[in-house]
Amino acid sequence: MNLRINGTEREVAGGSSALLVYALRDELGMTGTKIGCAAGFCGSCTVLVDGVATRACITPLAVVEGKEITTIEGLTQQGADGAVLLHPVQQAFIDAQVPQCGWCMSGQILTATAFLQTNPAPTEDEIVAAMGENYCRCGCYYRIKQAVLAAAEQMNVATLPTEVRA
Ligand code: FES
Ligand code: FES
Repeated sequence: MNLRINGTEREVAGGSSALLVYALRDELGMTGTKIGCAAGFCGSCTVLVDGVATRACITPLAVVEGKEITTIEGLTQQGADGAVLLHPVQQAFIDAQVPQCGWCMSGQILTATAFLQTNPAPTEDEIVAAMGENYCRCGCYYRIKQAVLAAAEQMNVATLPTEVRA
């Protein structure tokens, strides 16, 4: 089966009922997508499917065939000089020193990215609600909220006309 992952066609051997998280990690070596509960509860395996936060541990390949899958490896962009440009959500998580063990972080970042696409100027309560089903066993919830707030502000500034930014 062919899957479109981070803008590239990739072939995976698993059948239509195979689960996306194992195709990513075991077949393609994309270990940025983590496995926590493997049962759809914790959110650590979250990827984007056509921009929607999706739990890869309970998603069969048949569901994502023909769709655009974005993993944490695909969230960065390449600058004109070839440098890696972090997504504003990634940068905000670094700036706020959010991770402790880091296991939940790709799922947190991708969930936040999808959320900010639908709500670019969220309140703190909206962030808490949106991120509430992504568990962090290290308890980094306060810093996660602060980072999502900062990312929203950064992304909104980035879309303002230049004269307003100044
Ligand atoms: S590993 Fe997928 S939701 Fe926990
Ligand atoms: S940083 Fe350790 S589980 Fe979230």
